[in-house]
Formats: sequence, C-alpha cells, structure tokens
Amino acid sequence: MTATDSSASDSGAQRRGFGIDVGGSGVKGGIVDLDTGLLIGERFKLATPQPATPEAVAKTIAAVVHEFGWTGRLGVTYPGVVTDGVVRTAANVDKAWIGANASEVFSGALDGQPVTVLNDADAAGLAEERFGAGKDNSGLIVLLTFGTGIGSAVINNGVLLPNTEFGHLEVGGMEAEHRAASSVKEKNDWSYKRWAPEVTKVLEAVENAIWPDLFIAGGGISRKADKWIPLLKNRTPVVAAALLNTAGIVGAAMAAEADNEQ
Ligand code: BGC
Repeated sequence: MTATDSSASDSGAQRRGFGIDVGGSGVKGGIVDLDTGLLIGERFKLATPQPATPEAVAKTIAAVVHEFGWTGRLGVTYPGVVTDGVVRTAANVDKAWIGANASEVFSGALDGQPVTVLNDADAAGLAEERFGAGKDNSGLIVLLTFGTGIGSAVINNGVLLPNTEFGHLEVGGMEAEHRAASSVKEKNDWSYKRWAPEVTKVLEAVENAIWPDLFIAGGGISRKADKWIPLLKNRTPVVAAALLNTAGIVGAAMAAEADNEQ
C-alpha cells in the first residue's frame, strides 16, 4: 500500500485520517476520508493479543499502521476513561492499563508517530453524530453502546463532552451496564422482550439527568435494532447507529485530526 499522511493540505486534496479501534477480540484500522466518513480501501484487522497488556496492544497497533504505511498522527480507541492520553479506568479490561500513558506507549511502538487516544464510545459518538445516525439532527445527542459494558458519548451541536460514563450510573440500585449491557442479555439468555425494559430504565435515568434530543443505540446488538428499539418506553427518540463496525475507526481518525488542528 502507498504511504499516506494526514497533513495533505493542497487545496482540493482529500482530507485523510487514520483510526484504530481496539476491541476485545480484534484491533481494526483503516484510512478514513474525513469529509465523508467513509473508509478508503478495506479495514485491516489483527487479533487482540492475550493478555492484552498496553505493550502487547501497542505492538499490534504498530503492525496495523505499518500495513497501510501511515505516517501522520493517528487516533486509537480504548474502552475506558482517557484523559490527556492517560488511561484512568479499566472496567472490562486488564487493570494493568490504569495509569498507563497509552498515547506514549503506542507512540513509542511507532518511532514517535503521534497518537491521540480516546474512549471507544466517544469515538463512535463523534462518527455517528457527523456521518451516521445523527447527521440530520442538531442539539444534544447521546450515543450509548451496548456490548460487554455500556459506553456513552455526549455531543452537543457537534462538540463532544468526553469521558461520560453512563454505563456506571446507578440505576435502580444496580450499575447500568450490569443491568442492561447486551452481555447481560446473553448471559441470562433473555429475550429482547425481557431485556428491553432494562434498557428503558437506563435510558430514563440518562434522559432525566441531561434531557437529550436524540439517543443513538450502538454496539453489535444495534444490528438487530428492529427487534428491540420498538419495545423501548422512554420518552426521547432512539435510533440505531448507522456506521456499525466502522464508527470507532472513523471517530478515532476524527479525534486525531482535531488534535492536529490544535
Ligand atoms: C467503560 C467505558 C466504555 C464501555 C464500552 C465501560 O465499561 O467504562 O469507558 O466506553 O465500557 O466499552
């Protein structure tokens, strides 16, 4: 593949970015057209190393980046709170991540290439708001991802409020993600009908706290949205995420571009 750089600034040149989504089973990356939110070419995926320590993940990230020959800043997602590149929480991943300067560890595996690290749901939210299910809406959008845990992103008129952690809100005496993540549905072998009221409770807790104009439901289970979104009873409209397995990559590339512009 040809070498690429996000700094291409000739007038009329396509604005490109590079994003990597680090998940429990795969580390996926791709080149993103920042004007359309579409991937340029295919995604490339490698298995997430086990154990998924920061150093092992950094090596895998470097292998994905090298596959594309990308040389500019890139964005990488992480499933927890990240402030200034430093990981603060690790609810569903190895606790060894807490306190790691992920941005420096990843950059170190890439000969100093700059890396922006952000929360996985925040990345998905950025991408969905600009290019996906939120693109025709303005105002306050909350994206929730339903997977192993529940991730959240809050975006107000295009501006992200990073590191909201609505998955850890206490809802009816229980952590939201222990009540309504899709992993809870699977573990208990619940039907959509049994699971949807739990999701409704979580959405009600969020909407009573910040009154969004729209919820976007993401995570793998949003592919089956027609089976459960109609069963929800909260007041704010809920739509399914549109970008599915590219949202993290696209949002990570957007965040890297925003850091480039600072
Ligand atoms: C983490 C969030 C993350 C979500 C989805 C939660 O347990 O605390 O930061 O976005 O899982 O991965």
